[in-house]
Amino acid sequence: MATCFKNMYCNYSTTPLALKNGRPKFSWVIESDKRRSKQTAFQLIVSSSPDLMEENRGDMWDTQKVESGGNYCYYEGKELESFQRYYWKVRVWDEDGNASEWSNASCFETGPLEKKDWKAQWIAKKDLKTFESGGDYDTESYKQYYASFFRKSFELQNGAKSARAYISGLGFYELYLNGKKIGNNVLDPGQTEYSKEALYSAYDITDYLSLKNCVGVILGNGRYIERYGYSKPRLILQILVEYEDGNKEFVFTDNSWKSSHGPIQENGIYYGEKYDARLEMPGWNTYHFDDTNWEETEIVSGPDLRYQDMPPIRVTRVLKPQKMYSIEPGVYIYDFGQNFTGWVRIAVKGPGGTEVRIRHSELVNKDGTLNTATIRKAEATDTYILKGEGLEAYEPRFTYHGFRYIEVAGFPTVPTIESVEGCFVHTDVEKAGDFYCSNELINRIHNNILWGQLSNLHSIPTDCPQRDERFGWMGDAQLSAEEAIYNFDMNLFYENYLQEIKLSQKEDGSIPDVVPAYIKIYPADPAWGSAYITLAWYLYEYYKNEQVLKDHFDSMKKYVEFLKNNSEDNLIKKLGKFGDWCPPGAISPKKTPVEVTSSWYYYNDVYLFSRICEVLGKEDEARYYSELSEKIKNSFNKHFLKKYGYETRMFGPVDRLISQTSQILPLYYEMVPGDKKEFVLERLIDNIVEHQDSHVDTGIVGTRYLFDVLSENDHADLAFKIITQESYPSWGYMIKEGATTVWERWEKLEAGGMNSQNHIMLGSVDTWFYKYLVGLSLTKPGWEEVKVKPHLIGDVSFASGKVKTVKGEFLVSWEKAETAFKLSIFIPFGCEANIFIPRLWKEYVLNESGTLLIDNGKKQDNFQESKIKFEGIEEDSIILNAGSGQYYFELKSK
Ligand code: BGC
Repeated sequence: MATCFKNMYCNYSTTPLALKNGRPKFSWVIESDKRRSKQTAFQLIVSSSPDLMEENRGDMWDTQKVESGGNYCYYEGKELESFQRYYWKVRVWDEDGNASEWSNASCFETGPLEKKDWKAQWIAKKDLKTFESGGDYDTESYKQYYASFFRKSFELQNGAKSARAYISGLGFYELYLNGKKIGNNVLDPGQTEYSKEALYSAYDITDYLSLKNCVGVILGNGRYIERYGYSKPRLILQILVEYEDGNKEFVFTDNSWKSSHGPIQENGIYYGEKYDARLEMPGWNTYHFDDTNWEETEIVSGPDLRYQDMPPIRVTRVLKPQKMYSIEPGVYIYDFGQNFTGWVRIAVKGPGGTEVRIRHSELVNKDGTLNTATIRKAEATDTYILKGEGLEAYEPRFTYHGFRYIEVAGFPTVPTIESVEGCFVHTDVEKAGDFYCSNELINRIHNNILWGQLSNLHSIPTDCPQRDERFGWMGDAQLSAEEAIYNFDMNLFYENYLQEIKLSQKEDGSIPDVVPAYIKIYPADPAWGSAYITLAWYLYEYYKNEQVLKDHFDSMKKYVEFLKNNSEDNLIKKLGKFGDWCPPGAISPKKTPVEVTSSWYYYNDVYLFSRICEVLGKEDEARYYSELSEKIKNSFNKHFLKKYGYETRMFGPVDRLISQTSQILPLYYEMVPGDKKEFVLERLIDNIVEHQDSHVDTGIVGTRYLFDVLSENDHADLAFKIITQESYPSWGYMIKEGATTVWERWEKLEAGGMNSQNHIMLGSVDTWFYKYLVGLSLTKPGWEEVKVKPHLIGDVSFASGKVKTVKGEFLVSWEKAETAFKLSIFIPFGCEANIFIPRLWKEYVLNESGTLLIDNGKKQDNFQESKIKFEGIEEDSIILNAGSGQYYFELKSK
């Protein structure tokens, strides 16, 4: 059997060093170029030693042969022990009943599975210097702390075999062993509701150990400060050393650790960082350092710990400035040519005490100076004070900025363009999608969205990365989620976020607009709160993550019930406040009544929840919520469907302009009564074409669904026209006006207020490139079945898209010439595709890999052999069905 195991995952990671709980999920991806090949059964074994594994003995678990096409299973073996390493492998049977070889063995470690496994205690520096930093969002200023440094020396016996470090440090930590930084995580741990839990990371530190050791940690503020309801920074760390003879030894935080201040003084997310290199303590994190001047630490309380299994934040790319100029003597502006998140590294030589100041901005004024209006109260300034010892390098640790430009002042000499480089910093999610087409504007839009999306992944999905917010506004998160999923592996990231949503839930079932609730705005606007149900559903749809549905079932139900308790007449009239946010020319929704968006999201949530009940086999609840969704739909139509279309706020007696969004939403879910559908669609098209000259008049909500609605209703060409506009309001307009990411507003604005240059909510358009232009969309959960339906529109002569999924990588690419159309498709093992080949010519032949399949509408006899099923010919498409494998179709005009 031509199969091989391409990837093996435990809890969606390759070889995790810890688990969130004792019931990991195993999954595997099989590579096969065989047509219509699939798994029909599997056997998975888990062993407690490599030797047992070698002998194929699953002493911990042996599933035996399980009849199933699913490339995953949840552990149900003997109870796993903490701090152990286990081994696993799998084999599968194919469609002919042939068994594969066993996969290579993979492994995972359990880490501390229970609270009692933590011998370490939370510790903090006793006396911390404080400073008053500039404010944020709704506060003028607040107290923050100087960074604290911790150290502990320890000795080991001969024969240490391996060592692990389990650590959390709030707000942010940096870990060192014997003078070397451990891991490449930055701004770790991910942000959480710290009163309830903190995330810990696990590192393999075996190669860093010697007999005499020193572990050092620096703590920065992050959001763990009074302003957000917390306190001073604190640390918990546990090192486990294992000896050749099986003995184990722990090193852990307690009040024998020493602490101090050091060169990092002021630090804060919005504030920036101040580093005085003259205060460095050479060797502070090494064994022989004299720490007699360091203080005792104190034991403090701290939250429960959960393993951080989503990818960490890292520096993923280094950018060179494109341009540099001076605005006044000693003050230099660098332009990176790209708006992004992170910080700059500088290399500088000069006298000790020289203070170099770096300010950040998204825009510059006409005179070339920084325009910091869009970052509002965020000070976003990094300061480095030289020690005066040759070439010095600096980059901050406990802050990040959203910027394109920097201003460097106080440099001891004239800096060069090489004196600074930019570090792109964000949660390092794996790239899943790839898209490219012949239309350069579309490629630019796609590229801007990728920069914007990554900039807004900072352990939580943020609204923006630059100004005094950077919060987990849930509307922004849910509206951009499908786009993010096409482009990146988001499963663990959103799984983590769902946990935070759950923790933020109040007794009455309500959840806030911002999660974690650093600012407490309860209850959420239904379009924002919908993130709970919508994200959970996407994780099931796109990653077949059933566990997430189970884990959140009760809380999601509580949320849906909260909505129900706040409904009148099956509509939500009171909870909405933002609605179709940021339409052209406004911040608040102009023409779309908030009750329409709120009630529609009520329908969305109840409908999706009924499907969740169905997936989980909860039949009574599924029926109940499905009936409730019908009632909401009927009420929605009864109240909002008017003579002119769906409810619109009219401005004065002569206003006839209807809301695009009010029409889009019910069309998206086929809520419109059958006999009214054409009418509503016509009203929408008429509005777009006749009244807006083929432009959007939608805010973030309407924009998210507009292109699906148009394309599903035979108006993909109009979708294309709107998307490729270069006049206001459009993405092309933003680009023409210099955007390198996606703006918060459709308008070009350079003042403060609601005017971020890097918001991701309008980036939702990106899914259209994959789903409709390339034509790859999922039709069964977990990508088991897809639809391939390229849309040949406008001047696009080729388009290609790849998506790495839980089943493997799909590829669809097409090319159109005068008399030929080529479509190549790769379908992973175990998947099926329904393929719609456009009938471009009246008289044509269709070949696949050189085999004639159809000649002028006549099906040939070669189908069986090619393993492609002929499903029919419609007016505009030839419909085929294919299983796994590589296919090259060619349609030629005769
Ligand atoms: C954020 C938005 C967010 C909104 C709520 C803003 O300040 O930046 O993206 O969703 O508030 O209306």
